[in-house]
Amino acid sequence: MNGKTVHIKSFGCQMNKLDTALFTTALQDAGFGLTDTVKQADVVLINTCSVRDHAEQRVLSHLGHLKHMKKTKPQLVVGVVGCMAQRLGQKLLEHETVDIVCGPTQIPQISRLIEQTFEQKKKTLAVTEQIRRKADNDQTQSLEKFESAFGIENKQLSSQAFVRVMRGCDKFCTYCVVPYVRGPEVSRPPEAIVEQIKKLADRGVVQVTLLGQSVNSYKYPAGEKTYCLADLLYMISDIRGIEWIRFVTNYPHQEFLDDILKAMVELPKVCEYLHMPAQSGSDKILKAMNRKYTAAEYMDMIERARVTVPEIAISGDFIVGFSDETEEDFEATIDLVESVRYKNCFIFKYSPRPGTGADKRLLDNIPQNIKTQRNTHLLTVQEKISEQLSKQFIGQTVKVLVEGLSKKPHLNASENNSHPQLIGRTAGDYIVVFNGPESLAGKFANIRITRSMPLTLFGQMA
Ligand code: SAH
Ligand code: SF4
Ligand code: F3S
Repeated sequence: MNGKTVHIKSFGCQMNKLDTALFTTALQDAGFGLTDTVKQADVVLINTCSVRDHAEQRVLSHLGHLKHMKKTKPQLVVGVVGCMAQRLGQKLLEHETVDIVCGPTQIPQISRLIEQTFEQKKKTLAVTEQIRRKADNDQTQSLEKFESAFGIENKQLSSQAFVRVMRGCDKFCTYCVVPYVRGPEVSRPPEAIVEQIKKLADRGVVQVTLLGQSVNSYKYPAGEKTYCLADLLYMISDIRGIEWIRFVTNYPHQEFLDDILKAMVELPKVCEYLHMPAQSGSDKILKAMNRKYTAAEYMDMIERARVTVPEIAISGDFIVGFSDETEEDFEATIDLVESVRYKNCFIFKYSPRPGTGADKRLLDNIPQNIKTQRNTHLLTVQEKISEQLSKQFIGQTVKVLVEGLSKKPHLNASENNSHPQLIGRTAGDYIVVFNGPESLAGKFANIRITRSMPLTLFGQMA
């Protein structure tokens, strides 16, 4: 112990949460203690997201709260880490509450940055100046070393781990800030990924989720061969102890889909689940978003997926209210959602991000109330589909990986018994609620489904 205690909060996506897990163990290794409360902390670290304005506003309001804390505890060190740190850099450092600003690429240096701030008693800025320049070898190696050195088992979800297979993004969808805060695409060496997963399996992890902003673009040239995501799936399938393999998020690439579907059919460990955001069903809007497919091509990929893997569950993301989105464009999105029959969709209102192509060249000209209306409308359409798909499970027995106690007890007298309510997920990512012993967390169970809601199945241990 170096005697200092850190309080850590994470505000972002899976990638952001994985970074948090990595620097949490790195800080523990460096002798820091962890605390759940700001009151007991010497250092507060906030890992942030810039994908929508709302995500940044939440962080700013949290900083406002910390400003009050600092009045009674002026020695408290506050660090902002991650995507928002990279996006705002110096500007964020000027915030009176902030002492450290650390971009995603500088995370391996985090404990040194904290020590330095304490020693020199001055603010510390660590971000990448030219974020779109390919990282030099030293930087890549330092990230790679950091990535493999620390435990990343999920503390909340026992037996599960998220593993990064690539960093950054080169797609430049016009609405999106990610390429500007995470830098260029870099795939990790397959042997490093496999070694890491072997270690996780030895420590009891049974499910790994491979992460990348467009995970199916994974590409690692090694001599004659270029490894793709499907190759990784085959290699990871051979690891003893790993039972389920997932991967998110898929960019709708015509050329990178068939190999993955084939792997899904041939490899029993690969979950029959595909998260493949469409963003819109209108070709005009897709073009303005710089998505490289038409709605018909997207639909063709979905049909291929359903023919190859009949059991497949598909989920998606949509943005409503993008620049110049007319009623007809929105209708086209509804049509697409109805044709695909997603298991579930994440729907977002367009939020212009400074510096992105859309922000520079297009107008944010759809009024907030229309965005809200379209959001609600699309959600209703999707909910009906989810409800129909969920209902089909009634009477079936499904295998789930148990996550632990249900956070929102959906208590129902007839289902209640001497055991607490647990939550698990099927290979197709359906959430299943049932009563069982808490000791099942991290293990597989078979559940007979008795009741369904659009996003949740309910059942009993079979
Ligand atoms: N790399 C992933 C996810 C990126 S962010 C992918 O390409 O699918 C997750 C989701 O946030 C996106 O799929 C998109 O639907 C949404 N999103 C991204 N930028 C946005 C913006 N400026 N406004 C609203 N939603 C946005
Ligand atoms: Fe953003 Fe597009 Fe990259 Fe996804 S693929 S992170 S939406 S630029
Ligand atoms: Fe993730 Fe948000 Fe960054 S979505 S990659 S934390 S901008």
